Amino acid sequence: MSALTATASAPPNIALIKYWGNRDDAQRLPASPSISFNLAELQTRTTVTWRKDLAADSVKVNGALASGPALERVVHHLDHVRRLAAYQGYAQVDSESNFPIGTGIASSAAAFAALSLAATAALGLELTERELSALARLGSGSAARSIPGGFVAWYTGDCHEDSYAETFASVEHWPLIDLVAVVSRTHKKTGSTSGHAIAATSPLQAARIATAQARFDRCKAAIQARDFQELAEVVELDNNVMHAVMMTGRPPLLYWQPETLRLIHQVREWRERDGRHVCYTIDAGPNVHVIATPEAAEAIEANLRGVPGVLEVRQATAGGKAQLVNP
Ligand code: PMV
Repeated sequence: MSALTATASAPPNIALIKYWGNRDDAQRLPASPSISFNLAELQTRTTVTWRKDLAADSVKVNGALASGPALERVVHHLDHVRRLAAYQGYAQVDSESNFPIGTGIASSAAAFAALSLAATAALGLELTERELSALARLGSGSAARSIPGGFVAWYTGDCHEDSYAETFASVEHWPLIDLVAVVSRTHKKTGSTSGHAIAATSPLQAARIATAQARFDRCKAAIQARDFQELAEVVELDNNVMHAVMMTGRPPLLYWQPETLRLIHQVREWRERDGRHVCYTIDAGPNVHVIATPEAAEAIEANLRGVPGVLEVRQATAGGKAQLVNP
């Protein structure tokens, strides 16, 4: 019998319309729809080997054995796959990322997308892209968006099967670039899983959710029309609404540092004063994702390196999707 093993790779993604808050925390059913693109060149590569002679699952991340909550989260995800395949046995998981953690690039999206694909393929389960996306969502909400390629929409849905992400435009349609301006490498104090649970305590979250579909529609239309000015306005608006929710919950979450705010002003000046195709978006941390068209990216990257407090700029082009690879 051949070994029950498979290797998959998946990229992280950057949201243009953000996911923040769940309708159902256990199933990670989001309170609102979101839009993202994957970051090509960056990837997590994960090998899963299922065996009957193991006493427990084991997980290696970048060469180190995981334990505690990090291990439990993966074991919980493997439980879903065991149930799907009616398999009794344990897995060895070995995961490596080619981008460092703490650089403002969400690693859990790539990790749970690669894990979902490798773990199911190793057991011979042939899930559709939609089923895989929904499965990845159970591990980390935004992982649903790292399964398909190009520009991706993740729907709220009414139940597990209906909350998945799919491609609505190809990367070739508009090869945007994400310049990640790293201003801090320290770990965030409140991770996104606890953050989603806090979101509903903000008096602003109800208004954010009530208006999310309109921003989603505007963003999708702007991408389809390759209208950068419109895209920039809705991306920054959506980002600011999410951070307003973060700042006004209990407890309040303030992810920005002084350098974050400096970059916000700077990016706006480059667009409004100099007419550059550039806008910003920020996840659950202080680093700033500066989104630019390919024509604008080179000059913007050089300018970013000159902004006081910017430690590093990492460039990622739109692209990539989760796929099986030969080990
Ligand atoms: O998938 P999670 O639980 O890591 O949540 C991601 C949350 C944000 O990065 C802040 C927004 C997003 O849509 O990616």
